[in-house]
Amino acid sequence: MIVCVCRGISHHKLLEIIQEGASSLEAITARCGAGGDCGSCQATLQSLIHRSQRAAESSTDGGCRAAQPPIDAAA
Ligand code: FES
Repeated sequence: MIVCVCRGISHHKLLEIIQEGASSLEAITARCGAGGDCGSCQATLQSLIHRSQRAAESSTDGGCRAAQPPIDAAA
């Protein structure tokens, strides 16, 4: 799916760019131009960055959050 219509940049390509270290909108724009023209894709780019960072964080915590009991069960 194309995310940045102005530059023809796909969701898949943006995820690659983020995984290669682009951790801000500015870094993505510098790398491929996405977000630097009309700007209408910028909210989606920010969301992709945020979701990728959260996914990376949860993959490095060993799944501990999923193993925690519900809050009311601990009371
Ligand atoms: S759709 Fe991405 S800059 Fe226009």
